[in-house]
Amino acid sequence: MNDIQNRADIERLVRLFYERATTDELIGHYFTSVVPINWDEHIPTIVSFWENILFQTGAYKGGMLFKHMNLNYLAAFKPAHFTRWLDLWEDTVNQLFEGVNAEEVKFRAKNIAVIMQRKLDIS
Ligand code: HEM
Repeated sequence: MNDIQNRADIERLVRLFYERATTDELIGHYFTSVVPINWDEHIPTIVSFWENILFQTGAYKGGMLFKHMNLNYLAAFKPAHFTRWLDLWEDTVNQLFEGVNAEEVKFRAKNIAVIMQRKLDIS
């Protein structure tokens, strides 16, 4: 199995992740009914987010906390939502990739999830 090597690899990962996340019984509604999502814009944004984390491209403009504050306001997050998000992310990474970058995106997602829950005061 290969490691994540470029933007195309990240896109494959993100697309498979969203196939799972959007149909998940616990968190799917965030992506299908809580806010309208323009997927043609959202996918490249998320790909840029991870590309910036792995390859320091500077491609992601930021503002993710505000988006999740809004989601939390519309449909209160619980720790279980984050646990599921992270489980889906880890499973998807493990299914497609192996290596330093694969470990990095799993590790960073966990850290960001902890920070986000703290900042949004989720318990
Ligand atoms: C309970 C867990 C989570 C759910 C249900 C969730 C759901 C969503 C949704 C629905 C959006 C689109 C919001 C909008 O366009 O208004 C979004 C955006 C985003 N999410 Fe999450 N998210 C979760 C956790 C995370 C985590 C842990 C990360 C990072 C590791 C993350 C990274 C992002 C990024 C980068 C965006 C794009 C923000 C932008 O448009 O600039 N999310 N999320």
